[in-house]
Amino acid sequence: MILPRTYVEKVSRDLYLLRVDDDEIKFFEGLWSIPEGITYNAYVLATEEGAVVFDTWRNRYSNLFVECLRKVVDPKDVRYVVVHHMEPDHSGSLPKLLGIVGVDRVEILGHPMAGSMIRSFYGIDARFRPVKDLEALRIGRYTIRFIHTPWLHWPETIMSFVEELGALLSCDAFGGYSIPSTLFDDDLDDIEEYLEFVRKYIVTVIGFYRPFIAKNIDKIRSLNLDVKIVAPSHGVVWRRDPSRIVDYYYRASRGEIVDPKKITVIYSSMYGFLEEAVSKIVDALRSKGFRVAIHRFVESEHASLGNALSDAFDSSLLILGISTYEGGIFPLMKMVLDALGKKVTVPKRVVVLASYGWGSPRNVLEKMVRDAGHEVVEVIDFRGRASSEVIERVLSLVERYVA
Ligand code: FEO
Repeated sequence: MILPRTYVEKVSRDLYLLRVDDDEIKFFEGLWSIPEGITYNAYVLATEEGAVVFDTWRNRYSNLFVECLRKVVDPKDVRYVVVHHMEPDHSGSLPKLLGIVGVDRVEILGHPMAGSMIRSFYGIDARFRPVKDLEALRIGRYTIRFIHTPWLHWPETIMSFVEELGALLSCDAFGGYSIPSTLFDDDLDDIEEYLEFVRKYIVTVIGFYRPFIAKNIDKIRSLNLDVKIVAPSHGVVWRRDPSRIVDYYYRASRGEIVDPKKITVIYSSMYGFLEEAVSKIVDALRSKGFRVAIHRFVESEHASLGNALSDAFDSSLLILGISTYEGGIFPLMKMVLDALGKKVTVPKRVVVLASYGWGSPRNVLEKMVRDAGHEVVEVIDFRGRASSEVIERVLSLVERYVA
């Protein structure tokens, strides 16, 4: 058996990163296809008065987690475990850790909601101490300030700021999918490429709570912290340019990450009529210099919903090609429309292409796109095969609405 790759690395003075690369997972949260994988990052602050562990890894890596922890500190020296967030990708190794350290020896710190969640998730009666917003803990030469950051990504999520190191341990926020080849942004070759995975992570995981990103960043900025390191629970640790990832999240929250020449096409095609129309449209758009991302539900493949939403998020316009199915909407495109409403919460212009055999669901389609919070530019429906007029109509709408 090949063991997952793990890292134990100093981030700054007494702060260590414990990272495991999960390349086994296929669907994050059982939902989002991530062939790019994901990392789980936990942190340890080793002080002369004991160690503080910040988060853990998911349950299946519990043994490895404890092995890595032993490389930094003796588990018996762990005095506090900070639970930033109870989602099991971070809390999953808690039972193993507490089993080794001793439930009675260690104090767990977290948002007031986290105590009962630990009991209900893991059946553990831990020594739990709720922390107030902005409360500080002194240990050794360090001051750790806890910041409540609700909805990044659950209501009980908090961050820790280690004042003497300027290290913001931010949990899900400022994280991204993929298994970066480096631990730190210092030596990450292609930050733009990594940011594509960050965007997908923001859209799929935090997209529903998007406004809370900017709200929480405003709150953190108002504290005037001297942030030198941003250490999230997924992806790279930012210590060369921490403001870059904070700004990226902020702009994403405000819907400002838009590529003016990008168009995303998501379509279903049961027997090829819609696919034929879409491929003519895409060829023409590309020849005019537009960047086109394509996601399709056809007999040879099904799109990754997460990739489709991520591309939709930074596009100037969406083209949805929708087959009619039993007089209604093709079921997988119904799922796409639902997800576009919940996750791509920045309003987009949408051109709908609808193909039908005997009756068009155009009214339902219009309503669904509007109910999803997006603007219907036009629903263009056609029976069977699309005529050249249909293709020309789509192209003229794109020219009119995309810069
Ligand atoms: Fe990475 Fe919301 O957990």
